[in-house]
Amino acid sequence: MERPLDKQTVDNICIANGLRNAKELGAASIRQFVSVVKDIEAKMGVEYIRMEIGEPGIPAEQVGIDAEHEALLSGVGSKYPLITGIEPLTKEASRFVKAFINLDIPPVCFVPTVGSMQGAFAAFMALSQMREDRDTILFIDPGFPVQKSQCKVQGVRYESFDIIDYRGKALEAKLEEVLSSGRISGMIYSNPNNPTWMCLTEEELEIIGRMATKHDVIVIEDLAYLNMDFREDRSVPFEPPYQPSVARYTNNCMHLLSGSKMFSYAGQRVAVVALNPALADRCYEGFAQRYGNDGQFRRNFIFNILYVLSSGVPHSTQYALAAMFRAASDGKLNYVEHTREYARRAQRVKEIMVKNGFHIVYDKDCEQDVSDGFFFTFGYKDMTGEQLINKLIYYGISAITLAPTGSTRQGLRGCVSMISDYQYDELDKRLRLFSQDY
Ligand SMILES: Cc1ncc(COP(=O)(O)O)c(C=O)c1O
Repeated sequence: MERPLDKQTVDNICIANGLRNAKELGAASIRQFVSVVKDIEAKMGVEYIRMEIGEPGIPAEQVGIDAEHEALLSGVGSKYPLITGIEPLTKEASRFVKAFINLDIPPVCFVPTVGSMQGAFAAFMALSQMREDRDTILFIDPGFPVQKSQCKVQGVRYESFDIIDYRGKALEAKLEEVLSSGRISGMIYSNPNNPTWMCLTEEELEIIGRMATKHDVIVIEDLAYLNMDFREDRSVPFEPPYQPSVARYTNNCMHLLSGSKMFSYAGQRVAVVALNPALADRCYEGFAQRYGNDGQFRRNFIFNILYVLSSGVPHSTQYALAAMFRAASDGKLNYVEHTREYARRAQRVKEIMVKNGFHIVYDKDCEQDVSDGFFFTFGYKDMTGEQLINKLIYYGISAITLAPTGSTRQGLRGCVSMISDYQYDELDKRLRLFSQDY
């Protein structure tokens, strides 16, 4: 690209996609945004540097495909799967969690879900039903916007704060302030974090765990990007260093483990929820009254909530996930090394951005630089996120604004998964053009 795209043509495509002009792009939904970019590419013959969508950019793990294929050939397709999860899956999930997080969670405390998307949906529902006076979910932001939409769909109240202003010790006072209202049923964060790739420190996890116990709040720990803090090598099963987890500091927790990014298995929609054994066993009055039983968390979560959502998880994909967990724990599938590809791409892209006058918006984990990984955040001078994307669109670069993630800072989220090696020079060229113009 030698000069920016023709403004009128781009604006017309935006209008054809239901926007008034390109200035509304920052507020468009991600699907609308993707549609605009695709139309520009088709009409103007330009290839965008696509950083808006968080889709795996490496192939699905073959061991999963083979296991799923074999399971289908053996006839599982005609049979409803066990709602609690097939035995090989819960057994291998338990081993996997020991191998890569060093947690002891028995197979009975795992349940498969149709992606972590379903796991989070069910978790919000459970946490909001089990105690009458606890009606609010706390989002430790920035976060994955769809999870707030899940609360909206269910009519569940939520609160949030951007952790950037409360990192380290400061998190304790902030959590004390929010949790002492007595309304918070659960809190959620992702670690590593979508969209910033910040990772909580042990000190912060200890604070979260201690506060969760003190205020009897349940932590939903979203580990969609398990062990993708590439600043250290966590690729060897059953050996430290392990993925940090709040479970070392509280029993009030559950974990979401998704096959989507770890094993690039997003299309098959499979994940597990791991319940802390103490939480799994606890009985709650809200469940007892609503469902007419003893109120035990695990039974109600699985048989009363997950059951009505989809009657289980596709049989064959459960075999796939079981096989991928097994191969990883056996040291035969190095998923950490495979996903490290994202760190390589992020390092290059961030370098090119900084060289051209851009900055990384969420750049630190307390004193340390954030890891390179799947996502990163970037800004330009004092432009708002919306202003920036409304301009970058003419330079063949796409990304989404940070605003819907609950971020208090201005900028964009970039995802490096779709970037190919041959695009770095072009990215450099386009950003140089941009910085000359602004
Ligand atoms: C933080 C986070 N949680 C959950 C998910 C959803 O995972 P799944 O594909 O398993 O539904 C994603 C996917 O982008 C994510 O970024």
